[in-house]
Parts: sequence; C-alpha cells; structure tokens
Amino acid sequence: MTVWTPTDDGFADLSSHDTFLNGPPHNTFARLRREDPMSWTEYPQGQGFWSVTRHADILELNGKPDLLSSARGIRMEDQTYEEYLARRTFQETDAPEHMKTRVKVAKAFSKPVIAQFEGIIRDLCGPILDAALEKGTFDATKEIARQLPMRMLGRIVGLPDEDLPWLVEKGDALIANTDPDFTQHVLDKMTTDEFRMMPFNSPAGAELFVYAKDLMRKKAEAGDTSGVLHLILQPGPDGSVLPEHEFRNFFCLLVAAGNDTTRYSIAAGIQALCHQPELLGRIQRGEVTETMADEIIRWASPTTYFRRTVTRDFDYHGKQVKEGDKVIYWFASGNRDETAFAEPFRLDLGRTPNRHVSFGQGGPHVCLGMWLARLEVRVLFEELAKRIRAIEPAGQQKFLRSNFIGGIKELPVRVTLQ
Ligand code: HEM
Repeated sequence: MTVWTPTDDGFADLSSHDTFLNGPPHNTFARLRREDPMSWTEYPQGQGFWSVTRHADILELNGKPDLLSSARGIRMEDQTYEEYLARRTFQETDAPEHMKTRVKVAKAFSKPVIAQFEGIIRDLCGPILDAALEKGTFDATKEIARQLPMRMLGRIVGLPDEDLPWLVEKGDALIANTDPDFTQHVLDKMTTDEFRMMPFNSPAGAELFVYAKDLMRKKAEAGDTSGVLHLILQPGPDGSVLPEHEFRNFFCLLVAAGNDTTRYSIAAGIQALCHQPELLGRIQRGEVTETMADEIIRWASPTTYFRRTVTRDFDYHGKQVKEGDKVIYWFASGNRDETAFAEPFRLDLGRTPNRHVSFGQGGPHVCLGMWLARLEVRVLFEELAKRIRAIEPAGQQKFLRSNFIGGIKELPVRVTLQ
C-alpha cells in the first residue's frame, strides 16, 4: 500500500513554504533529478539559488566544503554579514574554526556514549506511550512524537524537567518560524527585522538567550559541571574560549535541532505504520532492529535541505556557478533518488545498505545528534510495537508550513492495543 502520494504538478516553487503544506513536492524533485539536476530558482525575498537534487551530487558537493562554504548561512534566507556573525554557531563555520568547537562536544554525542542512554530512553517511552495509547484515538505527533526528544535532550544537557514544555514551545517557535501554528512572527509574512540578530530571526531566540545565561549561572553556583553545555564552555587546546553569544546560539541550536527533527521522524514512521500494516509485525518479530531507524529517518527526511555558499566559480551539469551563489542540497530529494535506492517510495524497514543523506552525510557538519536520534527512534518503535496490535489513520494529517523542516504536525490515529 502507498503511504502517501505527492500531489505537486512537477513544477512546484521550491522557495515557497506554502508548497510544502501538502508534503514535500516529490514530483518536482523527481523531474529535476531527471531533467535539470543543477537548477536555478528565483527567490522573491532576495538572491536566487541553485538546487542540487541528485543523491550522488549532494554527496559529492557536500564533500567539498572549501568550494561550498557553510560560513555565510545555512538556510535559504539572505543575511547581512553582521546578522550572520550575531546568529552563527559552529554549524555556520568552516574548517579549521568548525572543528575547534565540534571536538569539544563530539565525544558526548558519540555512539558508545549515547548507547548508555538506551535504558533511560526506554523508561521515558513507557509512560509517554501508555498515556497516549489509552486514549484510543489521538494526535500521534502531539501525544507521542513531540514528547520524547526534548525530555531526552533535557537529560543529556542537564535541563530541569519542569522547564521542558516551555523549551519545546520555544524550540518550535524557532525552527517552525514559517508556520503560523507555532509563532506569531511568521518569517515570510511580516517584517522580523527587530529580531534580525537573533537565531532564526525569532523573538524566541531572545528568550532562550536569557534562559541559557540563567541556567549556566545556576549550574556554576551549584558547582554542577555535568552536561554538554559545560563541555562547550571549556577552553580548546589553543586556549580559545567560545564567545558568550556563540554559546547561547549553540544552546538555541540544540533546542531546535534536538527537538523537531527527531519528532518528525517519529511522526513519519507512525504515519507509515498506519498505511503499511506489515511493518508492525516486522518490528514485533525483531527482524529489523538494526535497520529500522535509518529507514524511518530516510523516509522522513526532516531537514529538507541545507544551504551552502560558493567560494569560487565552477561549472556543474553545464551551469556556470559563480562565487557568492547560494546552493541548496535537497536531502529530501536525494533520499528518494531511484538511482541510489530501490523503490525509494516504499518504506522498507530492513533496507540495507541504506545510504540516506538525512544527517548531511558526506560533509564535515554531519549531524552531531545522529546516534541519539537513531536510538530514540529505534527504542520508541520497539516500545510502541510491544503495546499495539494495529494502528490506522483517524483523520487528515497536516504538514508543517516550511520548506526547511519537513514534518507532519498533526497525525490523527486510532490504535488497537495488544
Ligand atoms: C532525525 C533527527 C535529525 C536529523 C535528520 C538531523 C539532521 C542534521 C543535518 C542534515 C545536519 C547537517 C547540517 C549541515 O550539513 O549543514 C545536522 C547537524 C547537526 N545536528 Fe542534527 N539532526 C537530527 C537530530 C539531531 C539531534 C537529536 C541533535 C542534538 C541533540 C542534533 C544536533 C546537531 C548539531 C549540533 C549539528 C551541527 C553539527 C556541525 O555543524 O558540525 N541533531 N543535523
């Protein structure tokens, strides 16, 4: 059975957030992969951009950070240099600066360290699932997918439990800053100049700044040196210390990146279970333990794209790409590339190998939280499968209004318990 069928006419405007209200425009991506793999799009809000849609091209170009830089912004929107400096984290820097910060926290997010959290994740999943499932019919994004990631991040970062709902709300306002359901300051619908020095042009950034500063003060007073925030504040081998505003931006990055992406992976996986009932049995029989998380994350492609900026002129697929041009890697398209995946529109939980690019594989910025995300997704689906006999749609799903984050923000489902 088909999980979901794209409805675009093959010529969707990739610069428009409204395009994504019906889910990613996969007919457009498929046409571009076939006919115009380095295609130009005009951008009403500023400078146009190149779209890279083929899997092999994304991997190739993402592996050339000297040619395609992260140090001019990583989203489609234009920024002045001043705004860039105020809002950047190490994700918006290139070598060698990038690694100086990344190494400080890399170990805390490494596979063996994250593996130790499996029991904690399982303990968090139990009550979340039980509370949702006893309702019988409910919104799976709100009651399940939205609940786990921030609680888990809270454990890793060392955040008080009572602050987590507020942090989820602020994380949503940051990253879903183009969807009126999540923010009053919709990025492309009004002027957000007042907040142009804040992460994501969002007033939520300002509130999170205050929160981060306060949190670190309280931790310092209590002599608490646990959690990744403390690690990032330590001087590097050359004695350099992260400027305070970059630290606060990093906090915003964690709240945003660690929250929505995993949530929307879980939501997309649950949606798939509703339409491909055989998937549940495979999880229950333990056949897909090693492979299912990556396939769900390929399927979800929660970060639809990331952007780079060209550092010197080059030719690609017959196009003259100029220094200063913006280039968009459409991970959502790469993950449905028929030359890289057999039957890319089928969710195959046993898919192996699975060379998806959801985490920005192939580049130096490959997701720091990927082991955490994989573990959360696997454990959640294992725990869900233990508890239900069937799951089906109970209404119309709704997608986020964003061309950057691909997500099902409302997913009504009905469950039959074991
Ligand atoms: C399924 C879930 C997730 C997806 C699909 C995802 C996706 C990505 C992608 C595509 C990048 C690369 C960006 C680029 O190339 O510019 C990235 C980087 C990053 N992610 Fe994730 N992410 C997920 C979960 C998480 C989690 C749970 C955390 C933290 C708790 C996290 C933290 C980060 C950080 C800090 C970076 C920047 C790394 C760097 O620049 O070196 N992510 N993520």
